Amino acid sequence: MEDSRIALPIGTTLDRFIKKKQDEFQYASGELSQLLRDIALAGKVVNREINKAGLINIVGAIGTQNVQGEDQQKLDVLANIRFTRALSKGGEACAVISEEDDEIVDLNNHGRYVIAIDPLDGSSNIDVNVSIGTIFSIFRRVTPVGSPIQEIDVLQKGSEQVAAGYLLYGSSTMLVYTTGHGVNGFTYEPSLGEYFLSHPDMSIPEDGAIYSINEGSFNSFAAPVKNYVNYCKEQKYSGRYIGSLVADFHRNLLKGGIYIYPATDKDKNGKLRLMYECNALAYIIEQAGGVASTGTERILEITPSELHQRVPFFVGSKNMVEEAISGFKK
Ligand code: AHG
Ligand code: MN
Ligand code: MN
Repeated sequence: MEDSRIALPIGTTLDRFIKKKQDEFQYASGELSQLLRDIALAGKVVNREINKAGLINIVGAIGTQNVQGEDQQKLDVLANIRFTRALSKGGEACAVISEEDDEIVDLNNHGRYVIAIDPLDGSSNIDVNVSIGTIFSIFRRVTPVGSPIQEIDVLQKGSEQVAAGYLLYGSSTMLVYTTGHGVNGFTYEPSLGEYFLSHPDMSIPEDGAIYSINEGSFNSFAAPVKNYVNYCKEQKYSGRYIGSLVADFHRNLLKGGIYIYPATDKDKNGKLRLMYECNALAYIIEQAGGVASTGTERILEITPSELHQRVPFFVGSKNMVEEAISGFKK
């Protein structure tokens, strides 16, 4: 009999990969697999919308519009609609927390899973044809299935995630995700409409030579962050900052590096959101052998107090993050 734990080869389709992994783990649920497929499908639709972004004014000028008038929507709002709709169809999700919605979006009391999502990350880069992404976290609800969703279902620690991932709409479109058994990356082939395994069992180098931080805010960084940035310069590391978290994160995951969004005078807790930006990337980076911290606390151990909570974020290669946050330790 075939050993299902044999690593799947490059070129395996996402559907087949998900199915094989589900068979491999006794407790893996078909519902979680379906959620991942739903997200992957919505990602294809959003990918198509993004590729048309440069045509929006032209499309507007020739007056084409769908029945809901959705072609007129901003892409981040549109992406939110696409993902929420995809997640509501199958009935597996009981609630969604999204950057684009102030409150919890109730879907179906009989669903088992809560999804936190940043439907379009790096949205300021849409108009300038630069890579953007989608980030998601999946949690199992804690209250009984069938009962109304409550805040405790949603405000869970990142360590409770059952899956997390991102889509990167870059020079090619990729889906990278983990269910807690390593990280795998799939590249989308648009002419076939399929994602194929291209980056099996991803791991981040322990050291790197890339630092990603918005240095325009340097004067308002805390002393340990200033010191670390200066250290990076002394080491002659490369500074790389796209301004799309997913894209900066993905590059650093492949090449080794550190991404920092620290507290600043303007954003006392940093800018990034714990529930739908930091948690997912922290889970992925730990699965890939890296580290994610606020500077003083492991991201995955934070008990959230509100849906749109912000946290300082240091994420990437183990040795780099440890060096960067060493200055916060008394
Ligand atoms: P979003 O587009 O979802 O609001 O997120 C933008 C985030 C993140 O993607 C990026 O790394 C960061 O904002 C950039 O912020 P600065 O322009 O302040 O550097
Ligand atoms: Mn974002
Ligand atoms: Mn966003």
